[in-house]
Amino acid sequence: MPKSSHVTWGGRFAAGPADLMLQFSESVSTDRRLAPFDVAGSKAHATMLARAGLLTAGERNAIHAGLDAILAQIEAGRFTWDTALEDVHMNIERALTRRVPAAAKLHTARSRNDQVATDMRLFFKEACGLLRGKLRSAQRSLLAAAGAAREVLIPGYTHLQRAQPVYFAHHLFAWLEMLERDHARFGEVAGRANECPLGSGALAGTTLPIDREFTARLLGFVDRRGRARVTQNSMDAVADRDLFVEFASACALFGVHMSRIAEDLILWSSTEFGFVSLPDAFCTGSSLMPQKKNPDSCELLRGKSARLQGNLQALLALVKGLPLTYNRDLQEDKPPVFDSFDQTVLCADVLAATVGGLAVRRDRCAAAVADPALLATDLADYLVLRGVPFREAHHAVGSVVALAEKHGVPIPALPAEKVRNVHDGFGPDWTSVFDLRRSLRLRRGTGMPGPAQVARQFARWRRILK
Ligand code: ARG
Repeated sequence: MPKSSHVTWGGRFAAGPADLMLQFSESVSTDRRLAPFDVAGSKAHATMLARAGLLTAGERNAIHAGLDAILAQIEAGRFTWDTALEDVHMNIERALTRRVPAAAKLHTARSRNDQVATDMRLFFKEACGLLRGKLRSAQRSLLAAAGAAREVLIPGYTHLQRAQPVYFAHHLFAWLEMLERDHARFGEVAGRANECPLGSGALAGTTLPIDREFTARLLGFVDRRGRARVTQNSMDAVADRDLFVEFASACALFGVHMSRIAEDLILWSSTEFGFVSLPDAFCTGSSLMPQKKNPDSCELLRGKSARLQGNLQALLALVKGLPLTYNRDLQEDKPPVFDSFDQTVLCADVLAATVGGLAVRRDRCAAAVADPALLATDLADYLVLRGVPFREAHHAVGSVVALAEKHGVPIPALPAEKVRNVHDGFGPDWTSVFDLRRSLRLRRGTGMPGPAQVARQFARWRRILK
């Protein structure tokens, strides 16, 4: 048998590809994970071809049985993948042809271009669903950590300088909001994946009488009312890689959120902050310094987020200069997508587990939040309620802070007459603002860190995450 007939497209070739070319151009080592989607797509396509009179019922049944057997073999790890057959599509087609003569008709009115586009859309729908589940688990872990430290207060920071007091739970709820947007984003990506490209052929459809809507319905590409959703331009359908970019982008942004959470945890677990201790099972020691406990899971979450951004960048660069429609460059679209998916799944699991083992150090939190300077803004608000314009109040409190620094005492320990000299708006009750619980109680508005709002957010998140 001449080498050229080895490949499905060998008809017009006098010689087969060089071994180096086979090694260079194979994608089966990465795209074999698409096998379940490829088989589902081929079964639907065969069903449609039979309905259109292009296959007999017997041929369709033989193809279905053959594909089921091949998938069972693949799932049992008993399938022999051949890199000389390039990709997952040709490996499965070749195996099917060996079993079922009718397999030679399966590729009727189909190209690998619309086939791979369909496989990937099925992959994206499943991957987004799985990641949404992972996000939910991570969120539940955060909610549990917030619930275990309900009454704990910590300083909130801007510019990494102590700013104003907040509930520890309020800080964790900020993380929950970030992850909630990721949850919604993966839902939107899955929604956009929900269009069937099959029937677009190589780029210009087919002269054969196929029924695209029928295939789309079989594969679950339907709207809420069960109506088929199919791509509307055959050239765009095989050239479009927007979903790849959007999926990688959603992973990258989720990664950035995990990285920011990780960074807070790294700071909080340092001796300097000491707000939390991280679970031993997700930290490592130093081979040199016996006292060290390093926050490696958090550092790796930070590091992996760079990799997720790299994958997004690779995909954007891959498509930017390509003429319509399919170009072989596009085969490089899958490694970054699969890597983003795999790493994001891992990161989400690690985040959930790390947070699951978090211990809050109440004494250290209490000591940090006892800093009266955190309530300097409350003191300005005190003046505002006595009719002082905010800018003037801010300036007066600034002078009071400087005075306390000069005398080396906490602000409320300053003598009343010294403070009155700064601004006569300060009354005898001026120190009443230096009460953390009061300060928080007054923060009643939606989204604020007061106890009533925090209780409301606990109820809201329990509802969302139940
Ligand atoms: N392995 C190819 C890819 O992933 C499948 C499509 C091949 N199409 C082609 N015309 N060579 O892009």
